[in-house]
Amino acid sequence: MLRTSLTLLAASAIVTALPQAVPATSTSSAPVFEIDGAKQYFAGTNTWWLSHILSDEDVDHALAEIAASDLKVTRVWGFGNTNNGVDQPVYFQYLDNTTMTITINEGANGIPRLDSVVRSAEKHGVQLVLPMLNNWDDLGGINTYCNYFGCNKTTFWTDPGAQEAYKNYVSFIVQRYKDSPAIFSWQLANEPRCPNCSTSIITEWARDVSRLIKSLDPNTRVSLGDEGWLCGGEDYAYSCIEGIDFEANLNIPTLDYGTVHMYYDQWGYTSDWGNKWITDHAALAKKHGKPIVMEEYDVKSTVSNQTEILQQWHHTILDTDIAYDSFWQFATDLTDRDPYDDYAIYYGTEFYDRVVIPHSKAMLAKTI
Ligand SMILES: *[C@@H]1O[C@H](CO)[C@@H](O)[C@H](O)[C@H]1NC(C)=O
Ligand SMILES: *[C@@H]1O[C@H](CO)[C@@H](O)[C@H](O)[C@H]1NC(C)=O
Ligand SMILES: *[C@@H]1O[C@H](CO)[C@@H](O)[C@H](O)[C@H]1NC(C)=O
Ligand SMILES: *[C@@H]1O[C@H](CO)[C@@H](O)[C@H](O)[C@H]1NC(C)=O
Repeated sequence: MLRTSLTLLAASAIVTALPQAVPATSTSSAPVFEIDGAKQYFAGTNTWWLSHILSDEDVDHALAEIAASDLKVTRVWGFGNTNNGVDQPVYFQYLDNTTMTITINEGANGIPRLDSVVRSAEKHGVQLVLPMLNNWDDLGGINTYCNYFGCNKTTFWTDPGAQEAYKNYVSFIVQRYKDSPAIFSWQLANEPRCPNCSTSIITEWARDVSRLIKSLDPNTRVSLGDEGWLCGGEDYAYSCIEGIDFEANLNIPTLDYGTVHMYYDQWGYTSDWGNKWITDHAALAKKHGKPIVMEEYDVKSTVSNQTEILQQWHHTILDTDIAYDSFWQFATDLTDRDPYDDYAIYYGTEFYDRVVIPHSKAMLAKTI
């Protein structure tokens, strides 16, 4: 209670000090999502692979385990591109750069895989965040558009041919699933970056694409999927060197919330720094009147105090205005692949029960 009233005081002080318009929500509590018919805090996870595995049974048991863990949302790759039709076991779009044709893969290793995820998510009451482009090369990212259109990772954002193809794909996906209650958010991309570019390039791109999506489906949330890079400081994550201005993007009317990723180890920071990264973003929820999500974070299983770090971050998340958080990543036994990576947390393990489950319960129990 004390914390809440202090925060309210601080917010009204800002309103008095600044003559420009501040969103009405800035004086009330920070915005949270309405999900399952109620405004609430919650936890979620990431399972990029759910749409890239071939077994319906695997999709179904993974989503059943996610639901049983009280994880409300999972983030699944809504993209999968190929240029040659053979380098990906599952792909949704084929940008054939020899015949120069672009097709949607309606075969068994194509869109039916995504259909299976959406159906199963509906059945288990889990909601999906679907990014529709990868900044990285994995599973066919910007590189597959550029192998076709001759762009690069800087010019992609404004290349007319690449943008038309990307928007056609986005329109296809949005129109196919827009009536499903299982879509939490359409997401423009996974970790868009334009290193050393003016941040206006990606801001204008995000404005344009999010407006297109809202015109096709005004009822579903839209998010950017960026890592939350801030501007105005000298320090790497605060220098907008990756071409992303988190606050400018948060002000785009057709983006409904802000996404933040956190890989302190890959970015040259300490795990303690993570608490500042969470707190600094959480403070922007009230300022801009939009929910903020810690969308990807985890500690490698090789780090000796992995448990303590995760628990400390979870405390920080619970203590601040983060609307939901989703760790990277949930893993389980599958028949045709192992979703292992350095950050995977396997369902049913002692570690999962000690770190994931208490946090998802604590988020649900947090009062608005
Ligand atoms: C076509 O795509 C392949 C990847 O499958 C790439 O190696 C090749 O360079 C591309 N061709 C052109 C002309 O860009
Ligand atoms: C992409 O191409 C442009 C124009 O040809 C060039 O200025 C830029 O440096 C290239 N960027 C990358 C990342 O290669
Ligand atoms: C960005 O610019 C800096 C300084 O000019 C340079 O060191 C760095 O390599 C550039 N990064 C990219 C990805 O082009
Ligand atoms: C984890 O270990 C690192 C390195 O020894 C230390 O800097 C950090 O404070 C520890 N964090 C926690 C929460 O124990």
